[in-house]
Amino acid sequence: MERPIGVIDSGVGGLTVLHELKRQLPKEKFIYLGDTLRCPYGSKQEEEVIQYTWEMVTHLMTFDIKMLVIACNTATALVLEQLKEHLPIPVVGVIEPGARAAIKQTQTNHVGIIGTENTIRSQAYELALKRIKPNLTTTGVACPKFVPLIESGKFIESDAIKVVEESLEFINEHPDLDTLILGCTHYPIIQSLIEKVVGNNVTVLSSAVETGFEVSTLLTFYNMYNSQDMVHSEPVILTTGSLNVFQHLKEEIFQLKSASLKQITLT
Ligand code: SIN
Repeated sequence: MERPIGVIDSGVGGLTVLHELKRQLPKEKFIYLGDTLRCPYGSKQEEEVIQYTWEMVTHLMTFDIKMLVIACNTATALVLEQLKEHLPIPVVGVIEPGARAAIKQTQTNHVGIIGTENTIRSQAYELALKRIKPNLTTTGVACPKFVPLIESGKFIESDAIKVVEESLEFINEHPDLDTLILGCTHYPIIQSLIEKVVGNNVTVLSSAVETGFEVSTLLTFYNMYNSQDMVHSEPVILTTGSLNVFQHLKEEIFQLKSASLKQITLT
């Protein structure tokens, strides 16, 4: 079971999930593919997201992956069920794990979700949350400016806070909302800005940690852990776009310094 685990995202956001997977499962091999060239998926037509996601998956299947993690909320919302139905390997999305983390956290039973337009429109989080806890109140709001800000790498500049403040104004209208799900895997990259804006009464959650638990559970269930006695294996990171932002994030933020990084073309 030395085969790698495949991780896909529309761009750099899934590195937040890869980082956590690596932390929880240091012996596993990972191959990551970010479709930066065609990012963001969050405002694209549903058919396009389905096609692009399948192209990424088809590419990763050539590496004989043993499991697929869709580290993209938009692709999880629109393509997870299809992938589960058609692929011969276990497939994990990020929405169920994020919903579970929020249910564990909320005391007031009012959970907010921020994500891309496609994720919010799909109501995938609301459905996942209410399937487990029907009496929850949910408020979902799209923040379409966040992904372009993050992919441009300009989130460290001073006007980034303005974009975050404007997008999160809705929080003030819901004083009982105590838990906010980052329903896009890009958003943890600006989590400190988001936390600054929403204040101490709101706990901000990403699905990365809980997704790591789910992958571990499935590896146990299918008896798929890497049994080789190697200590460390650095991930392979593939992108369809520019290497610049990946290079910066993988080294400065995610401590994935020696991960190999390569540009590829998808057809
Ligand atoms: C996007 O490509 O718009 C964001 C990816 C996500 O939804 O996690």
